[in-house]
Amino acid sequence: MGWFSKDIATMDDLFVHTLQDIYYAENQIKKALPDMVEKATSPDLKRGFETHLRETEGQITRLKEVFRLHGVEEKGVTCPAIDGILEEANDVAGEVEDKQVLDAALIAAAQAAEHYEITRYGTLVAWAKQLGRNDCASLLKQNLDEEAATDEKLTKLALDGINRKAA
Ligand SMILES: [Fe+2]
Ligand SMILES: [Fe+2]
Repeated sequence: MGWFSKDIATMDDLFVHTLQDIYYAENQIKKALPDMVEKATSPDLKRGFETHLRETEGQITRLKEVFRLHGVEEKGVTCPAIDGILEEANDVAGEVEDKQVLDAALIAAAQAAEHYEITRYGTLVAWAKQLGRNDCASLLKQNLDEEAATDEKLTKLALDGINRKAA
């Protein structure tokens, strides 16, 4: 089902479709993170990815609750955007040999995923409120806040790395 398919007629359809999109994305991210933990060399970055893996599991649980509250079947729809981001991350990481450069590449890839999630959750929170689903909005906002905090932590790790290199 595409964005402009006839299956999306109302704001409610659009909300559900986007919910299915992020549900798929979170599950793909959950699958990709162990590999990023494995590849990261900085212990802080490794720990950061491990923490985010646990957070991602919690986010998936919240999404399941949103599906339940909204009375729709919990399922994902393929999201080519997150597939592309993760595929690119894999390609780039596979080509880098220098450990410090590899960490920088992993951080950049992870931030691309975080920004994707932030835009989706920002939209979903707004639409949930518009649809009168404050219960769903508050769960989605918790996911949004975790993504934003993760993005900030990644920025900090990137800057620390750059500072270490400069020192
Ligand atoms: Fe997430
Ligand atoms: Fe995330």
